[in-house]
Amino acid sequence: MRKGPGLKLGLKEETPFSNFSKYVDPSGKLNFAGKAIIHADGVNFSNGSSFAIKMDDLLLQEELGKGQYGTVKKVSHQVTNVVMAMKEIRLELDETKLQQILMELDVLHKSTSEDIVEFYGAFFIESCVYYCMEYMDCGSLDKLYGDGVPEDVLAKIAISMVKGLKFLKDELSIIHRDVKPTNVLVNMKGQVKLCDFGVSGQLNKSLAKTNIGCQSYMAPERIKAVDTYTVSSDVWSLGLSLVEVAGGKYPYTYDNMFAQLRAIVEEEPPSLPEHYSEEARDFISACLHKEPSKRPSYAELLQHPFIQKYIDQDVDMKSWAIQALESRQD
Ligand SMILES: Nc1ncnc2c1ncn2[C@@H]1O[C@H](COP(=O)(O)OP(=O)(O)OP(=O)(O)O)[C@@H](O)[C@H]1O
Ligand SMILES: [Mg+2]
Repeated sequence: MRKGPGLKLGLKEETPFSNFSKYVDPSGKLNFAGKAIIHADGVNFSNGSSFAIKMDDLLLQEELGKGQYGTVKKVSHQVTNVVMAMKEIRLELDETKLQQILMELDVLHKSTSEDIVEFYGAFFIESCVYYCMEYMDCGSLDKLYGDGVPEDVLAKIAISMVKGLKFLKDELSIIHRDVKPTNVLVNMKGQVKLCDFGVSGQLNKSLAKTNIGCQSYMAPERIKAVDTYTVSSDVWSLGLSLVEVAGGKYPYTYDNMFAQLRAIVEEEPPSLPEHYSEEARDFISACLHKEPSKRPSYAELLQHPFIQKYIDQDVDMKSWAIQALESRQD
């Protein structure tokens, strides 16, 4: 693959890192308040963890998708033979933001949960962060739900999502901020995992947007006022994503973004199709309460009869995933 230009530490170079000269030590590494050292091959943290992955070790395979901030590619890490997904994120950086991002990546590195996509490492080249994570070989839910999914599959997806969101909140104090079907990934073992959580939001704030998404998963309160994001806004996005996965289409359909956002704020929230059970429909309507303070917490959601009905039930998610992959729409 194309050899990355590398992190240029020649201090007169016009790179986003030129401003960081005071952090460069004589060995040509950048130091951040003793917390992290960034260099062309990755990032080392003072606690001993390191992001040793570098572009030269990666063999580029196909593109998995494009988002608002960059491209996700399948890559093979030649040192370990691990297949990974590599996301390129363009950043608009300043010093404090970069420092914050490094700390956030450190948090990610330490966190593991079966409901969260594993993070392998990151490296910086010029104004991009390359972020390597677990490759999920069936892709994201938006490409897998087809005309909709049966209730037991929906329940298992809901369980993974709620557990993943609860883990982020309880263990890492993270609000996801971008819950939607493209950020819920599936593999051929039938596992369902969340990705692209906003950490403390610093990485989010530094992102250079290339295009704006045309479907909004934003809760009504976020549309009405800025900076009103709380954990219950993620609960709304969870409910909306599940309605989409169940019914096979994004539930708000309007020709333009303005009409769509107005519908989210003013109209009755969407609900599950009639053939779903009372428990399932109640779970969704609790998540999609227009008033954020009335939406349940994750702990409450896990106790909900819909979840309780399926939590110990064996659902053949593996067969569903394989079948969904075969009829996958790209
Ligand atoms: N770890 C992964 N394994 C497999 N496929 C992935 C992985 N991460 C992302 N993808 C695929 O790449 C696509 C692009 O991902 P990306 O996060 O850049 O954008 P998005 O989630 O679709 O939208 P947005 O930019 O609005 O968040 C996703 O839709 C998903 O299908
Ligand atoms: Mg994504």
